[in-house]
Amino acid sequence: TTYENIIVETKGKVGIIRLNRPQALNALNAGLIADLDKAVKGYEADQNIGCILITGSEKAFAAGADIKMMQSMGFTDVFLGNFIGDWDGVARARKPVVAAVAGFALGGGCELAMMCDIVIAADSAKFGQPEIKLGVIPGLGGTQRLTRAIGKAKAMDLCLTGRMMDAKEAEASGLVARVVPAAELMDVAMKAAETVASMSLMATIACKDSVNAAFETTLSEGMRAERRIFHPLFGTEDKMEGMTAFVEKRPAKFKNK
Ligand code: HXC
Repeated sequence: TTYENIIVETKGKVGIIRLNRPQALNALNAGLIADLDKAVKGYEADQNIGCILITGSEKAFAAGADIKMMQSMGFTDVFLGNFIGDWDGVARARKPVVAAVAGFALGGGCELAMMCDIVIAADSAKFGQPEIKLGVIPGLGGTQRLTRAIGKAKAMDLCLTGRMMDAKEAEASGLVARVVPAAELMDVAMKAAETVASMSLMATIACKDSVNAAFETTLSEGMRAERRIFHPLFGTEDKMEGMTAFVEKRPAKFKNK
């Protein structure tokens, strides 16, 4: 499939999605989100894909929702149209999603990165929630996922002042998993995605689901959820293969069975 706003490419078991609206620094609009959703759904349905990698350009992961599109919108448009109500398709993916972020990840762009499971940032990356400067607030998780990721002190600072945070600060704050030199971003992110994709898909989906439960519930409920997800994995052939391979001192070959 070819898309207007993204470029997709499959490398081995990794499904790569590159946001591609260079004239607007990958600003998110309905067309881009529709393309992104379709591509994610395609990779979700493809059993040969074990991990999805989302990236942007060197200059921008995504500079936010498209301000030129929003400029003319009023309350009834956004309220009755449920504006951005279904822009969280990436967060609903079951398969692990890696974000490779270079340049600006602002507003909806930062929120999109936070919907991903492993965020790897180039040293050029800049994160922020500048919506306050436009007279609004974040609407795709910026006040919620960001606060859970980096805590109230920094989330308030970023959301109320609209200032940007560089990659180093983002890593120190817990927003990103790793920072790498910009020239190495795609290699490192691909390696991470390939590593995840080489595991049993039942295990990676279960693992993601279980980690995410930590954000939705109490510790004791979360522990119960983890146990309920952990036990069934002992019913898979991949579990037999993984443990047998260890005992036999050879690499495991998972078959998603
Ligand atoms: C529409 C955008 C855009 C955006 C950049 N552009 N960001 N268009 N929506 N969010 C366009 C510019 O208008 C310009 O096109 C081109 O991209 C290049 O941008 P420049 O501003 O010339 O680049 P630069 O000087 O390098 O500055 C980069 C920047 C700045 C700091 C990222 O573009 C910027 O501040 N952008 C807006 C960031 C922002 O406020 N994001 C939050 C959006 S609200 P033209 O053709 O005009 O030259 C949001 C709501 C979230 O995300 C909740 C709902 C999802």
